[in-house]
Amino acid sequence: MAKLRVIFENGDPERVIEFDPAAAPFHHDGRPGSILDILLGHKIHLEHACGGNCACTTCHVVVKQGLPKLSEAEEQEEDMLDKAPGLTPTSRLGCQAVIEDPDAEVTVMIPRFTINLVSESESE
Ligand code: FES
Repeated sequence: MAKLRVIFENGDPERVIEFDPAAAPFHHDGRPGSILDILLGHKIHLEHACGGNCACTTCHVVVKQGLPKLSEAEEQEEDMLDKAPGLTPTSRLGCQAVIEDPDAEVTVMIPRFTINLVSESESE
């Protein structure tokens, strides 16, 4: 079983999901087996304003462990990430980064500013 540990920058309790990558998709948004797909399929909320189509930055996560276990970012993802607030060298779009390795152990942090961004854009 693969393991995805989720840390919330806003202080919510961390969660650990154990899953079989071969069982993807777990939900209907994002690439099958992507971090977004895994989270939504396990009832953990992650913003995904464009529906998981690599056209926004609301699903931005910071990978804390296991970056090499994720699918490589394609050019479109890199372009979108350039616009993400609080970009880090290990940032990924949750809807694009797929975990395929059944032994993968990956830790991601859901940034606080992702939530801020959404509430700001809603008040426009
Ligand atoms: S949900 Fe919009 S880019 Fe991932």
